[in-house]
Amino acid sequence: MEVNYNEISRTYDQVRKENRDLLEIFIEEVGITDRTRILDFGCGTGNYADALQRLTHAQVYGVEPSDGMREKAIAKNPNITFVNGNHENIPLEDNYFDFVYMTDVIHHIPDVSMMFSEIRRVLKRGGSLCIVTESHDQIDNRFFVKYFPSTATVDKRRYPDIDEIISKATEQSLEHIKNVVKGEGAVGPVTSQFVELVRNKGYSMFHLIPDDEYNEGLKQLETDVLSGNLICRHSGETLVWFRKK
Ligand SMILES: C[S@@+](CC[C@H](N)C(=O)[O-])C[C@H]1O[C@@H](n2cnc3c(N)ncnc32)[C@H](O)[C@@H]1O
Repeated sequence: MEVNYNEISRTYDQVRKENRDLLEIFIEEVGITDRTRILDFGCGTGNYADALQRLTHAQVYGVEPSDGMREKAIAKNPNITFVNGNHENIPLEDNYFDFVYMTDVIHHIPDVSMMFSEIRRVLKRGGSLCIVTESHDQIDNRFFVKYFPSTATVDKRRYPDIDEIISKATEQSLEHIKNVVKGEGAVGPVTSQFVELVRNKGYSMFHLIPDDEYNEGLKQLETDVLSGNLICRHSGETLVWFRKK
């Protein structure tokens, strides 16, 4: 069982899109204007980069190693430069970006220290980095862990916890600014779109759990959603902010 983003790219945009609240936080926190140079690291199909460029007319770049994901991104917005790269090699200039962000990427990175070193290289002095991820507590508290229990185990192995992220970034001379928790505790119905996301294995963790568990969890989830109002309490995300000194 492994995650293949060229395969996932075929259905990714049917089930995943950008979170506008997150973009508003970026715009406000960084003070983004049309002159701001921004890098979306691990940009996938470019949903965040595309929306951010259209909202702000900033100079947006995306780095993405999967050809399938990157091709979708390139087709979305000709005003963004999308390049092939990864945590070992960001093929862009030193001291270039005012802001680098990554959404739902850090758990795919095999060497986080190397990634921080590369990101630090391309950031300007005083530039900001925002990592959008989930803490181990937030992973344990995902409402769907009761349907797919081993997703929590699998993901706590893949996701570095917040303290580890801070410690590895600090070792690479990035200054930790703050952590911001977003969306934790929000209550709402489980939508048919979420069920569709699970059916399409729109989160990579569903590719990493046993088929039996996935099939049984999906069946139970479909039954619960169909039988009435299944309400969930969101476990939220953590935004970890750094600055290049
Ligand atoms: C869950 S997707 C998130 C995509 C996008 N950031 C979003 O929020 O829609 C994770 C992305 O990380 C990319 N990725 C995997 N390994 C990577 C690496 N070593 N360096 C950079 N990106 C990587 C994958 O190809 C994939 O597009």
